[in-house]
Formats: sequence, C-alpha cells, structure tokens
Amino acid sequence: MPMRQMWNQMYEKDKGEGCGADAWLVDTLADATPGHALEFGAGTGLNALWLARRGWRVTAIDFADVAVAYLVAQAEAAALPVTAKVADITAYQDARAYDLVYMCYIHLEAEDQRKMLRSSARQLKRGGRMLYIGLTGVTNLPDHVDPASFASARTLAAYLPADMRLVRQHEARRRVPLSADEVIEEQGVLLEAVKL
Ligand SMILES: C[S@@+](CC[C@H](N)C(=O)[O-])C[C@H]1O[C@@H](n2cnc3c(N)ncnc32)[C@H](O)[C@@H]1O
Repeated sequence: MPMRQMWNQMYEKDKGEGCGADAWLVDTLADATPGHALEFGAGTGLNALWLARRGWRVTAIDFADVAVAYLVAQAEAAALPVTAKVADITAYQDARAYDLVYMCYIHLEAEDQRKMLRSSARQLKRGGRMLYIGLTGVTNLPDHVDPASFASARTLAAYLPADMRLVRQHEARRRVPLSADEVIEEQGVLLEAVKL
C-alpha cells in the first residue's frame, strides 16, 4: 500500500488527540521569539497548533489529506494562523523565507531525508533555525519500513548542506505518546541547525 494511503488510513482511526505538542519541541522553542514557521509532515498539527497559540504563523504541509483537513478544521475553529497544505515534503518549495523549519518523526529513506534537510535550508532566512526531532535505532519494524530511515543524529548531521551550521545534536532515551493510550520508549534524536 502506498505510504500516503497508509497514513490516511491511520488518521481515519486516530487523529492523535490527547498527545499534545512534542515535549522536546516545547522545551526547545518555549522561549523563542515567534515568527513564521514551516512544518514538514505536520500530521494533525499537534505542534503547529501549539506554536500558533504562542504567536507563530505556521505553514504546515503533509501529504495525508485526512490529517490536513483535520488540521484546517482545528485551526479555523480556534482562529489560529495556520496555513495547511497537502504536499510532498521531498518536492516541496514555496517562495517564502521562514524563521523556523521543523519536522517531528519524519522517518524517510536516506535520500529523502537528505532532500528534506536540503529543502529546509532553502526555505530558511539567514539566521533561521532548523529543528529535527525523531527516533533512531528502532527495531521490530514492519517489512516495508527501512531501518535506515531511523537515522542517528550523526548520520543526519552529515546530510546537512554546507549553508547550515549544526548548533545542537542530541540523543537520549525518551517516552513518546503515539495515541491517547499508547506510549513507546525509544532513542530520541534532536538536531538543530542555523542557516548561514
Ligand atoms: C509520524 S507522523 C508525524 C506527524 C507530526 N509531525 C507529529 O509529530 O505529530 C509522520 C507524518 O509524515 C507524513 N509524511 C510522511 N512522508 C511524507 C511525505 N513524503 N510528504 C509529506 N508528508 C509525509 C505522514 O503523512 C504523517 O502525517
């Protein structure tokens, strides 16, 4: 089954209600000055809605239209400045330069991870921040998932283009909620870089 369809089916069942914004993202951005952010693979917008409530304008993209429709409805109901679009991360480009480009739990094949990080650099203003949060070393994966898509901080750092300066690379064991009643414990990865 194509990945987009798989994600749509997942979102038909569970919209992630009750999970809230990612704890590492909250810690990293709680004191940041609001600006314009771009999120790759926003899902139902747990993080985009949190940022928008703190004064950020957010452009949120995801190829799962079920998630995007839900995110649009949430943002409209709360009158929050989130523009959500159905688009593919690996080919995304718009004309805006952002203060922040971020992505949480986007585990793509190596070449697509590289494209995503290159694209984040293209979309940032000088001095803008890129934040990647994900998991690494995950085992017991279904057959269709490439273990390399759960890359280490070191591997991801090597994908950064030359106009990005790595400012933080962190790995630690952490608990991540998958739904209102399921939490996993895995090795978390955080990468933060600045556009030169
Ligand atoms: C694990 S979910 C994470 C959602 C959200 N970032 C969060 O942390 O709640 C991964 C998301 O990436 C999206 N995604 C995966 N590959 C994508 C691609 N190539 N283009 C756009 N979205 C993609 C999926 O539809 C899904 O919503």
